[in-house]
Amino acid sequence: MAKQKLTSLLGTVALIGGGWFAAQNVMAEEQKAEANPNVVIQSNNQQFAEKYPLQFNGWKATSESDEIVSALEEDPRMVVLWGGYLFSHDYNKPRGHFYAIKDVREILRTGAPTGPNDGPQPMACWTCKGPDVPRLIAEWGEDGYFSGKWAKGGAEVVNSIGCADCHDTTSADFAEGKPALRIARPHVLRALDKIGEPFANLDKTDQRAAVCANCHVEYYFAGDTKAVTFPWDKGTTVDQIETYYDEIGFHDWIHSLSKAPMLKAQHPDFEIWSAGMHGKNGVTCIDCHMPKTQTADGKVFTDHKIGNPFDAFENTCANCHDQSKEKLQGIVASRKHEVKDVMVRLEDQLVQAHFEAKAAWDAGASEDEMKSALQDIRHAQWRWDYAAASHGGYMHAPDVMLRVLGTGIDKAGDARVKLARVLSAHHVGQPVVIPDISTKEKAQAVMGIDYEKEKKAKDEFLKTLVPQWDKEAKEKGLISE
Ligand code: HEC
Ligand code: HEC
Ligand code: HEC
Ligand code: HEC
Repeated sequence: MAKQKLTSLLGTVALIGGGWFAAQNVMAEEQKAEANPNVVIQSNNQQFAEKYPLQFNGWKATSESDEIVSALEEDPRMVVLWGGYLFSHDYNKPRGHFYAIKDVREILRTGAPTGPNDGPQPMACWTCKGPDVPRLIAEWGEDGYFSGKWAKGGAEVVNSIGCADCHDTTSADFAEGKPALRIARPHVLRALDKIGEPFANLDKTDQRAAVCANCHVEYYFAGDTKAVTFPWDKGTTVDQIETYYDEIGFHDWIHSLSKAPMLKAQHPDFEIWSAGMHGKNGVTCIDCHMPKTQTADGKVFTDHKIGNPFDAFENTCANCHDQSKEKLQGIVASRKHEVKDVMVRLEDQLVQAHFEAKAAWDAGASEDEMKSALQDIRHAQWRWDYAAASHGGYMHAPDVMLRVLGTGIDKAGDARVKLARVLSAHHVGQPVVIPDISTKEKAQAVMGIDYEKEKKAKDEFLKTLVPQWDKEAKEKGLISE
């Protein structure tokens, strides 16, 4: 696929629109790819089983990582932090790539649509779930793909993250068993251009990491079309992305307690990895998560069972490090512990701040009085989420994680000092009392979430609409029996 060029309309619109604000909003709009019949994408992973059994079986074995762990049960503070946003209803930790479609259907965040034009989410929610997405973008163009509700894509996006997400499976190289790595999502190609790393110019090592950047990145849904966009215009650090969002005046939602204009970080794994020790030394995701391995008769191939690198220690860490598996696992575990310790402290500060802001509003505080504190809450929580949503960040770049969290605590402290002044001015007794949020159930009750009701609607959707989607997809030949 031809590399997409980012066309910045900034200059022109600043002149026509006559104001900085008009220009700022336009920063988020990018020229979109048209439908392209020359791009043919075989999205059915099963089609590759026979010719590439080693890679296919490895890919399929990602199904062994099947445990569903509710992040909200583990840490109910998140229910408060995401107050007023669907993440506070249901949020699980990641598991194997094999389950991406199943999981996006089953999570409460996608709601219980009854037809193609129903439900809380846009089409964009499918974008990191599998190779039907680049197929549809090629067939419908980006605007065609991104427009409409999530349920519009139900009978189309049916194959989980697979071969055609990372490979040009129609190329001559691939037919010969070579990788032919490719990025088929136009918005990802544009984003790599923005950071001066156009995919076509990258060497093999960087291309390997870039295929993971299809999805393991921070993004947002921009403009009216809600098109997935990477906020990388100024760079990929937590500060640069924060500035970008501030300048375009973007927020994902308004917090239900504090009314702060919030940002939800997605999973900036690529960004954090690239700033860490391994990323800086050219050690990529592939070296640890997809190592080269050998069959009994000596054939070298890439292990496609993307999961925990310690499970394949001899082919991953041990390629470069002399320490024992236990020793390195111990180091990683202690870093996880240390990062988590700081992360929870920031969460506690933020929970306090949201309730304090609510108490201030309840006591009659004005927007003017609150503005600065709310901006601090926005920035503090953005930093918390950037770290919390980066799965494995404690391994990939513990130093980066600790700085992000440390600056978050600083901003949360600023917010709370300002709130204390507002509360005093309105004669509110302090400390503001925080309700019992010690379990997910209690926290959801406090935040007014009826989990059981939503679960029931979801079960109905899974029993009625989803089987129709699968039937249609089979009829179209998108999935095998
Ligand atoms: C998430 C990305 C990703 C997915 C999904 C993926 N691959 Fe790969 N694949 C890679 C990477 C990375 C390499 C190694 C590239 C290199 O060595 O430069 C690779 C290598 C290969 C190769 C070259 C030979 C080898 O083993 O190194 C083949 C063939 C291949 N994959 C087939 C498949 C098939 C078939 C599927 C689907 C069942 C699949 N891949 C799914 C990323 C992926
Ligand atoms: C098309 C989007 C996409 C691409 C490309 C992709 N991932 Fe993922 N990855 C996901 C999603 C979505 C999940 C969570 C799946 C779930 O929980 O249902 C995930 C989960 C994971 C997990 C957790 C697995 C587990 O068992 O807990 C790891 C590790 C991972 N990805 C690494 C990688 C690496 C390394 C690459 C590049 C070689 C990559 N991913 C490419 C979307 C993607
Ligand atoms: C130097 C090795 C190394 C590199 C490079 C690396 N990872 Fe990891 N990653 C790990 C290890 C080890 C873990 C699991 C840590 C643990 O055991 O708790 C992990 C965890 C993860 C997880 C969380 C899995 C889960 O279930 O919570 C994701 C997602 C992930 N990595 C994706 C990536 C992506 C994407 C890249 C490249 C942008 C990358 N990793 C680069 C070693 C690496
Ligand atoms: C392809 C080579 C390579 C692989 C694979 C690799 N590392 Fe590293 N690792 C490095 C390099 C290079 C450094 C940089 C430090 C240095 O110069 O020694 C490093 C540094 C480290 C450090 C110390 C730096 C820090 O972050 O504080 C730890 C700990 C570490 N690696 C753990 C792991 C673990 C665990 C794995 C497997 C999951 C792994 N590495 C896989 C090459 C590798």
